[in-house]
Amino acid sequence: MTDESTLIQPPQEVLDQANVQDWKALLERADADPVAFWEGEAAELEWSHPWDKVLDDSGAPFYKWFTGARTNIVSNAIDRHLTTARRNKLALIWVGEDTSKVRTFSYFSLNREVEQMANILLSMGVQKGDVVTIYLPRIPEIYFAMLAAAKIGAVHSVVFAGYSSEALNARIDDSESKVVITVDGSWINGSVFPMKKIVDDAVRFSPTVENVIVVRNTGSEVSMDPTRDHWYHELARLPIAQGHCETVQVDAEDPLFILYTSGSTGKPKAAVHVHGGYQVHLSSTMKNCLDIHEADRWWCTADPGWITGTSYVIYAPLIRGATAFMAEGSPVYPYPDVWWQLVEHYGINGMFTAPTAIRTLMRFGDAWVTKHDISTLRILVSAGEPLNPEAWRWFHDVVGQGRCSVIDNWWQTETGAMQVTSLPTMPKKPGSAGRPIPGQAVAVLDEQGNEVPAGSDGFLVLKNPWPSMLRTLFKEPQRYVETYWSKYPGVYLTGDSARIDEDGYVWIIGRTDDVIKVSGHRIGTAEVEAAVTSHPAVAECAAIGLPHEVKGNAIHVLVVLNTGYQGSNELAAEIRQHVSQTLSPIAKPDVIEFVDKLPKTRSGKIMRRVLRARALGQDEGDLSTLEND
Ligand code: WTA
Repeated sequence: MTDESTLIQPPQEVLDQANVQDWKALLERADADPVAFWEGEAAELEWSHPWDKVLDDSGAPFYKWFTGARTNIVSNAIDRHLTTARRNKLALIWVGEDTSKVRTFSYFSLNREVEQMANILLSMGVQKGDVVTIYLPRIPEIYFAMLAAAKIGAVHSVVFAGYSSEALNARIDDSESKVVITVDGSWINGSVFPMKKIVDDAVRFSPTVENVIVVRNTGSEVSMDPTRDHWYHELARLPIAQGHCETVQVDAEDPLFILYTSGSTGKPKAAVHVHGGYQVHLSSTMKNCLDIHEADRWWCTADPGWITGTSYVIYAPLIRGATAFMAEGSPVYPYPDVWWQLVEHYGINGMFTAPTAIRTLMRFGDAWVTKHDISTLRILVSAGEPLNPEAWRWFHDVVGQGRCSVIDNWWQTETGAMQVTSLPTMPKKPGSAGRPIPGQAVAVLDEQGNEVPAGSDGFLVLKNPWPSMLRTLFKEPQRYVETYWSKYPGVYLTGDSARIDEDGYVWIIGRTDDVIKVSGHRIGTAEVEAAVTSHPAVAECAAIGLPHEVKGNAIHVLVVLNTGYQGSNELAAEIRQHVSQTLSPIAKPDVIEFVDKLPKTRSGKIMRRVLRARALGQDEGDLSTLEND
């Protein structure tokens, strides 16, 4: 249920501290001249050479920002703090799944760690522009690895630590990485997930990988190929790892990272993000939209294998000189109050998580939260999927005790940073993602490209270019143009449906393409279908997303079996397990349903829309293109 008329006013505690007191004035100023607004935000950061132009749209949709400028995101995330008193403050507090394991790093010592990793990468011949694949869990070394690659002008490609060897292999080969950074294993609810073994399988036939750096984490036994694999702690002792490592100044438009994400075909696409505009957008949103101050302790629970983690776990808190907090474990292990215990113990001020986690914790009841003193919290943030009003209110009333600002924010891997949100001092509508950020404008269009009236559904588009926008799709510039800029001229197609109400608040409905958000993870139906079809019993299949109370969406797969096979519970379990192993546990279908045939168009395309409507008991809509029996 959405209640669009409810407006929740910001609590006094939030108003007292907010960087932006007059949100209307900020939006008016930024919207009047977005380019000037972004230029002002950029001026707060360090550049070794100034820009000639803030926005160059001459090659649109291949936009460029801060052309001619030289910088490096590491100069802003670390180096500039080293010459101030901030060098001795905590940059990172890390807590293991076993919460008695704690590691802390000041900005000074974080820099030492990054220099060490960067020296090692250089010694392996990594050069500016080379892609380094990082397959690490949430441990401090993921900071070192990402920042080290950036420091020397290399490009990082972080692959989510839950992906299987096949998915990892596809990403390593496509990016032509020479170096992979991984661990022996990661902790998942008390058990070891064998990440090194997955890397072994992924790189066995890789034509490009020369070196694998292995961080010791779980202490579990792994096989080491002496011609390729190196323990990180042994490399760190070598002379090549020692000493100062210069932060390479790069062009503002030089790539910082690629991040693979799911689209409407089986082949994942990689968004390309650059040093200059990306750091500006992170700095600006962290200050204006999330209201994080230098003195704050900031905990974003996302994994750096997804964009939320790359942007708001790794870079944003460091750029603002705050203290980042990272936890290795899940929200419910060993008990469903582990997060609140950590908030209480470490005095977290701002927390950013996903609706699935909020709904999961909500189901365990309020007592797990209220027995802890979590009164340091001021800012509560959610992204990745719609935060339904019930979960919104629980986050606000129980976790925030009515004293915190609950900030939903909408964005994508492609946008690099948030695009729609509600500033801390802005009145909130539970269930709405808020308004476009300062400098952005959005619209909801019909099929023909006309803006629909307020309150009507349609395709969400972004009207203004923005500094942290993806510059292209890695190796696929044509696909970049076709996917995002072809349906409507001059505006960015998000792939989401939404509506905008009378007050200008945006209500996200969901994806309009073949992408399913499961627990906030972005999964392509085509990837799931490819994994299911690789099981010998399966002739063909169709994957659809259906509403799920906790996960947002659940994956249902309708399967047509090869002749000679009979549908059974055992076979369904086997196929689910097969997907978990060949793609990822996060993509494991909730339901496998055996059917005799799938509805198709006359040209042979599976009509997922019809399958969804049937599953939900809804009107199947226009069936004129459906193939006859
Ligand atoms: C969805 C995650 C509703 C949306 C940052 C988008 C959201 C996709 C929200 C991108 C939100 C993200 N409310 N839906 N606040 N945030 N989404 O690339 O469908 O993993 O297109 O980036 O997540 O997922 P991605």
